[in-house]
Amino acid sequence: MSDAGYYSSSKKCDDICDEICGQGSRAALSMSRVRCFLRGLELRTCVLFFVFIPIFIFGIYLHGQKISYFLRPLWESPPKPFHIIPHYYHENVSMETQCQLHGWKVREFPRRVFDAVLFNNEVDILTLRWNELYPYVSQFVLLESNSTFTGIPKRLLFAANRDKFKFVEPRLTYGTIGGRFKKGENPFVEEAYQRVALDQLLKIAGIEDDDLLIMSDVDEIPSAHTINLLRWCDDIPPILHLQLRNYLYSFEFYKDSKSWRASVHRYQTGNTLYAHYRQTDVLLADSGWHCSFCFRYISQFVFKMKAYSHCDRVRFSHYLDPKRIQDVICKGANLFDMLPEEYTFKEIIGKMGPIPHTYSAVHLPSYLLNHAEEYRFLLPGNCKRESG
Ligand SMILES: *[C@@H]1O[C@H](CO)[C@@H](O)[C@H](O)[C@H]1NC(C)=O
Ligand SMILES: *[C@@H]1O[C@H](CO)[C@@H](O)[C@H](O)[C@H]1NC(C)=O
Repeated sequence: MSDAGYYSSSKKCDDICDEICGQGSRAALSMSRVRCFLRGLELRTCVLFFVFIPIFIFGIYLHGQKISYFLRPLWESPPKPFHIIPHYYHENVSMETQCQLHGWKVREFPRRVFDAVLFNNEVDILTLRWNELYPYVSQFVLLESNSTFTGIPKRLLFAANRDKFKFVEPRLTYGTIGGRFKKGENPFVEEAYQRVALDQLLKIAGIEDDDLLIMSDVDEIPSAHTINLLRWCDDIPPILHLQLRNYLYSFEFYKDSKSWRASVHRYQTGNTLYAHYRQTDVLLADSGWHCSFCFRYISQFVFKMKAYSHCDRVRFSHYLDPKRIQDVICKGANLFDMLPEEYTFKEIIGKMGPIPHTYSAVHLPSYLLNHAEEYRFLLPGNCKRESG
């Protein structure tokens, strides 16, 4: 026991009980019992060192991310809560009453609305988005790059599908930008670079002071009535985040209502810069949908998983196996096998495991229900994807 080097030889472990214990006189018997006990201890220590510790280390390698996510409440406190503005809407309530209910006055004419997005590969979701917002948007502004945020070359997919978006053509300002393809750079730098270019494109599109500007990812879709309310009411806050319903893979998996990154700005030249982080404390409740990874083809999942800003999440190559991806989609489980990103143990534990199915297709983007056959994969009960 005194010799530390003892443990370094696994052969010793094998030798430990090759003597037969408990032979000879009573004294010898009790002596050898003690020795056997000690040897048992040594055996256990050996087992601990050579079996459990490697398993433990391998476990940390496999699940380290989960362990740190689970312990998040210990190392990170939750962000400051938003001031949530209650949101009133019914199709049969006049705009004047709607504005009044929010403590605002109705305007004589609506503001112009600019919807600006950075496009990656979300052709189907973009179709839903632009059809939803079409009645109220004056200019659709779209920028795409031939580089993902992580510096992977990509085709100009909007350009390739432009004929699908003929209906917005008279109101479209489209721009492209070449990627910088810097190896090993933080993806947020390329993202910031593209957002600055989007500011330029907005000026080209003719945005002016007090026009409404929607800043959001393509898959964060404000509901049409929300934008209509904001363009018709005076005195709305200069910057307002939109609380969206979070869905994963399709409208079959409703996760929570914690999406807040989308925002609407009353544009101020020189002050308003395109951003996708928290810019104010006010959040308008129930303002639309955030459908993450709502793709038609498995190949789009693979592309997005690789192109993601948080590309470190693809830790094992089997994550990209199409069969595994299909299984994960149908279960409502996590593509990256991660724990929920929450700030209290109660919420982490409450949200562990797959997202439960929902069978409600009430209050979804109208274009989706009017073209249900074409967009089946987004509706409850249709989790099977084409390989593409
Ligand atoms: C909408 O309003 C009209 C008249 O104000 C009323 O007749 C009708 O029943 C209302 N519809 C709903 C669905 O409330
Ligand atoms: C990306 O676009 C820029 C500008 O159009 C071009 O110069 C560059 O060659 C393109 N790179 C790739 C990899 O397509």
